[in-house]
Amino acid sequence: MMAIVGERSSCFKRVPLIERYRSFLPLSDSSPIVSLLEGFTPLVRVDRLASRISDKITLYVKFEGMNPTGSFKDRGMTMAISKAVEAGSKATICASTGNTAASAAAYSARAGLVCAVILPKGEVALGKVSQSMMHGAKVIAVDGNFDDALRIVLEITENYPITLVNSLNPFRIEGQKTGAFEICDDLGHPPMYHAIPVGNAGNITAYWAGYRAYHEAGVIDRLPIMLGFQAAGSAPIVEGRPIPNPQTIATAIRIGNPASWKQAEAARDESGGLIEKVTDEEITEAQKLLAATEGIFCEPASAASVAGVIKKASEGFFKTQCEVVCVLTGHGLKDPKRAIEICPPFIELPADTDAVAREMKLI
Ligand SMILES: Cc1ncc(COP(=O)(O)O)c(C=O)c1O
Repeated sequence: MMAIVGERSSCFKRVPLIERYRSFLPLSDSSPIVSLLEGFTPLVRVDRLASRISDKITLYVKFEGMNPTGSFKDRGMTMAISKAVEAGSKATICASTGNTAASAAAYSARAGLVCAVILPKGEVALGKVSQSMMHGAKVIAVDGNFDDALRIVLEITENYPITLVNSLNPFRIEGQKTGAFEICDDLGHPPMYHAIPVGNAGNITAYWAGYRAYHEAGVIDRLPIMLGFQAAGSAPIVEGRPIPNPQTIATAIRIGNPASWKQAEAARDESGGLIEKVTDEEITEAQKLLAATEGIFCEPASAASVAGVIKKASEGFFKTQCEVVCVLTGHGLKDPKRAIEICPPFIELPADTDAVAREMKLI
């Protein structure tokens, strides 16, 4: 039936993410909610991609690039900023490889808070920097890596009345748990395997907490197996030691000393899963394959989850028919420079129909 103009349709009934999952979150009746209508991101079944990987898996991607600022960070940020407002905070700060900064800047603007973001100079994709700037944050690029930026931010928040909104802020993890709830709600059950990129390790910690919370509440009757993937040049958890000068084209996960290291290991061990590494080449191949076979454009760090599943499938890891969910943590438009670099150049021609038709081999 055609929608009637002015009629309330279901899209107008959309509620803020943390309102929907309020009973699983530390919110009181009087907690203010700062929302940009985040979450409820698509869980897309990707059969064409799956058929290129393994005949054993039914593959889904949770496209977190569809959040308001283009990454999963909005789930935790709606919670962290709501609680900051509840506590009477006037200012927020974070260290970031770009996405946390973009999200903190947007939600702080929405709440009328001052925001400062500390970035590793020259290592943040341009789309992300532009977001922080547009939202009016104070953007400071330090001559160091993410781990240096985080150290500075921790020292500042210890000494000044500014709210830390990195994933060390427990409300960030609380909010990010909702990703696991949505996957279970959409599938009607948990997946067998949950694949996820690992950087500072907040997200794997949050998803595992979310699955556990649903399990304890009896919403699901089993837990998934967690598969975490780090970039090969930035794989401290895999190597078992901090990496002083981490390297990878996946700048979002270029982190040498993850804040939630122990929690990530707990998620791995309690679920009977693994945390392994994938090379930049494998990440790039997965990013391109996903975009070209399924029409889904994620940023390089996000493709680490798909690259990991491809790698494990090629090793014969998936032995029986199973469901796998890959979290695509951020949108490909965050890093267009990298996308253009890895594709063949486009063709330039005069504005002439025959020239275009010839190029298309039509004549
Ligand atoms: C796009 C993207 N993917 C993955 C990650 C890694 O998440 P976490 O640091 O919670 O492990 C980040 C973190 O910034 C990110 O921005």
